[in-house]
Amino acid sequence: MVSTDSVIAVLCGGFSAEREVSLRSGKNCYEALQRLGYANTVLIDMDRTVACRLVDEKIEVVFLVLHGKYGEDGCIQGMLEILGIPYTGNRVMASALTMDKDMTKRILKEAGLPVVPSVTVYQNGKRSDDPSVCKTLQFPVMVKPAIEGSSIGMSKVDDFSKLSGALETASRHCSLILVEEFVTGKSVTVGVFERNGETVVTPILEFRTKTEWYDYEAKYTHGMTEFILPAELPEEVTEAIQKTTLKAHQIAGCTGLSRVDFVIDTENRFYILEINTIPGMTDLSDLPAQAKAMGVSYDELVECILQTAH
Ligand SMILES: Nc1ncnc2c1ncn2[C@@H]1O[C@H](COP(=O)(O)OP(=O)(O)O)[C@@H](O)[C@H]1O
Ligand SMILES: [Mg+2]
Repeated sequence: MVSTDSVIAVLCGGFSAEREVSLRSGKNCYEALQRLGYANTVLIDMDRTVACRLVDEKIEVVFLVLHGKYGEDGCIQGMLEILGIPYTGNRVMASALTMDKDMTKRILKEAGLPVVPSVTVYQNGKRSDDPSVCKTLQFPVMVKPAIEGSSIGMSKVDDFSKLSGALETASRHCSLILVEEFVTGKSVTVGVFERNGETVVTPILEFRTKTEWYDYEAKYTHGMTEFILPAELPEEVTEAIQKTTLKAHQIAGCTGLSRVDFVIDTENRFYILEINTIPGMTDLSDLPAQAKAMGVSYDELVECILQTAH
């Protein structure tokens, strides 16, 4: 149990492509912890000296608000395990697994959960299929780096002849590439967090975009995306998606919190795209909005996340 006397570090920033979002999230969480009475809280922008800094400042608990490489992929979690400092959210294995969309899908599929048909193409990687294998997929397809976020390096491809350009784009970000059938319909996300020792699933949030899909522009340009919360779906579909979210969270070994992204086709069949283990915490982010929709304020959400530290 973290107490108001605990020396807490909010770790944000770091070196990933999502650094700016993380800095904003970190500042918001830091301010919430101050309001909640955790007076011994410091805000740290992670750099290569972070281990020394945590030890020098006698940090007792780390509140993680890092995204992407080194922050969400098990690296910082492993370092904190070695330092023996309790930290919030997911452990090493769940973080590393879910950072890789290909591996995540393999595990979820094996457990019988719905994922979009895809093939894995390599540029230099080991898990390899020849691009011609993509001919087995129904076009259009979505081409995406297996390890990246914020829709970076992704493109929709309408037919096989245009595939190589998209593979080239994705390979600039990651040597392992997913070619996934494109699902026309809705894009939604569902949050999971722990409250009073219980794992709770949030209402479903739908992204309705002015662009063809939820790309980088739609994610980060004001007014490009409409947020529908809760998503307008039949009750049984809502329930099934929420149940699947919780299962995915458990199967991936997640602890404390996650956000699971889905696509839903025009006949309300749904598929998991990925699991995020450190969701954004800016005042405009998905998880705080989802928590609010179930009567949990931003500060209470931060308190819930803090108490997952062990
Ligand atoms: N197979 C797909 N079919 C349709 N839309 C997709 C597909 N894959 C991704 N998208 C769209 O792109 C967005 C980002 O994809 P996602 O796999 O969640 O990667 P990221 O890590 O960048 O968020 C999704 O929210 C969805 O709107
Ligand atoms: Mg996503």
